[in-house]
Parts: sequence; structure tokens; C-alpha cells
Amino acid sequence: MRHDSSIVAFQQKRGGDSAAFFVPFLTSQTTLLDAGCGPGTITVALASLVGKAIGIDNEPKALAAANALAAEAGLSNLAFAEADMTALPFEDGSFDAVFFHAVLYHQSPARLTRTLTEARRVLKPGGFVATRDADVGGNVLHPEIEGVRLALDLWQRWYEHDDPAALRFGRRQSSILRAHGFTPVWAGASYINHSADAASRSEAVADARRSLLGLGPLLVGKGLATDREIQLALAGWEAWGADPDAVYFRCRCECVARKD
Ligand SMILES: C[S@@+](CC[C@H](N)C(=O)[O-])C[C@H]1O[C@@H](n2cnc3c(N)ncnc32)[C@H](O)[C@@H]1O
Repeated sequence: MRHDSSIVAFQQKRGGDSAAFFVPFLTSQTTLLDAGCGPGTITVALASLVGKAIGIDNEPKALAAANALAAEAGLSNLAFAEADMTALPFEDGSFDAVFFHAVLYHQSPARLTRTLTEARRVLKPGGFVATRDADVGGNVLHPEIEGVRLALDLWQRWYEHDDPAALRFGRRQSSILRAHGFTPVWAGASYINHSADAASRSEAVADARRSLLGLGPLLVGKGLATDREIQLALAGWEAWGADPDAVYFRCRCECVARKD
């Protein structure tokens, strides 16, 4: 994943509400691990609610952004560290809560199992794991311009190439957590709004453009798309962005489960 300044700014805006579903499970005594914290926007938002927060990621650029954000926030109960979520550098039972946001859906089944086994190990008995991830079946898009439909199809081709189930990961979180020994206690869903106003539609178009330009050569290289399809998809997003009534709400499924 890239961590340039526009992505950090984009994520910063949604940092506060991305974990709202988990807030009722946290207290001022909670020790929290944000695994795959990326630029730390959510970790910083949660740190002000808990006793201690640690964000880990295996991408040094993400951690540099996270540390800059932490310095800006001036919170003393917050730390970031470079670590692999499949082999966490923490003692058994170190945390009351472990959070995964937009991290698990593209893991292979074997890596997912290693990651959730580690999360379970570092949680105290009675502690909570929370996950929030994508499910394309829940997305709301209007108008369904051909090029935009094509863009969604191109993203689908990329993920289906790895794992056909990845696109419907969100709705399976509860059963996945149960299969890894947790007891699900809450499930829900919310949306990322890419169309609140003209500015957010422009951001959505810029985001789609960055993603298509990044993924395009990979798709073409693997024979999964043509250059012309990438161009049509880019044009589709431009047309969508020019429609003042266009909407795009991206579904995020949420789950909280307990370690008994
Ligand atoms: C889509 S980003 C989400 C970042 C953050 N949770 C958020 O929602 O803003 C996924 C993050 O998971 C991190 N990641 C992927 N595999 C990892 C691993 N094995 N260990 C630690 N972090 C990992 C990536 O570096 C990336 O920052």
C-alpha cells in the first residue's frame, strides 16, 4: 500500500468514525493494539479514549506518517512500532483490545489464521477483537456509468485473481472470528461517504484515478485487462464526478468478538 500525503489526508478525515462501533467496548483503562495501523489516524483517534494505545505496521513509511501524527497530537499514552501482525513482539495476554481496520480482507487463509491466532494470544481472557472491512456487495453507486461499472469490475478482477471470496469478506467476519476461537458479540455495518458534496466527489475521482493508474499496469501485465479498458474506466470516473447528483457509498462491515 502507498502512503503518500493525499492518502494520509484522505484517511485522516475518516479516522474518528472508522472505529465508532468499537468505542462502547473501550474504557479509560483499556490497553489497545491497532494492528496494521497504517498512517495511524484511527490509532490517534482511539488513544484519547483508552489508557494506552500501540499501533503496529510492517511498512516504515506508514509508521513515519503515524509518528508525525502522534507528535502533532501530543498524546503520551500512544506508541507506534514496526512489527509483523503474524508474529507479534508482545507477551501473551498483553492487551484488552485488538483492532484490525481494512487489514484482514486481502490476507490469504493461512496468513489470516496466523494473524488471528496472534491476536488471540496477545489478548487477555475477556478481551475484545474488532474488525472492520470491505464488502463490495453492499456498495451504493449512482449513476451506474459504464466506465465506473468497468472500474469496479477491474478491481474485482484483481482481487478475484487472488481470492474470489475477498470481495465479500465483510459479511463473513463474524463466522471467521468464531472459526478462530473468538465469541462474536456484535455485528454491524456503516458506509464511507464519497459523495457528501462536490469536494468529496472530487476526492473520490482522484482516489479512483490513483488506484486505476497503480493497478492498471499490473492488470494489463497479468492479461486481466487491456489499456483501453483502463482508459474507459478513468473516463467513467471523470463523468461520474461531473454529475452533481452522483453518489458512492462504500460499505464497511464491522464485528466485535470476545476471547473467552
Ligand atoms: C489498507 S491499510 C489500513 C491502515 C489502517 N488500519 C487504516 O484503516 O487507516 C492496511 C495496512 O496493513 C498493513 N499490513 C499489511 N500486512 C501487515 C503485516 N503482516 N503486519 C503489519 N502490518 C501489515 C499495511 O502496511 C497497511 O498499512
